[in-house]
Amino acid sequence: MIDLARATAVCAVADIPREGGVAALVDGVAVAVFRTHDGSVHAIGNVDPFSGASVLSRGIVGSRGTAPVVSSPMYKQAFDLRTGACLDDASVSVPSYDVSVVDGVVLVGGVR
Ligand code: FES
Repeated sequence: MIDLARATAVCAVADIPREGGVAALVDGVAVAVFRTHDGSVHAIGNVDPFSGASVLSRGIVGSRGTAPVVSSPMYKQAFDLRTGACLDDASVSVPSYDVSVVDGVVLVGGVR
């Protein structure tokens, strides 16, 4: 459940392409916000832990099984957009954030 009082307004949901992402700073932290083909919105850390580069928002959005994922543009590891878990290395994950759309505006809250 998102804490609206502490959430950061990032952009209009319409500004995020379907099956695309945008990068945003939330409390000084780089966050990647994605919209999937069905219109749902997810937020995870933007830093790819394998390369250290802040690039996940520019990855390829798709699915693996039932999981919506982004594949890093660096070395292609897939991250579950719902949890931040890396599906190619169970020891690795990125933070995932509470996210909500209110009146067409994407709000990012705290780390889950
Ligand atoms: S994006 Fe090229 S293999 Fe996944």
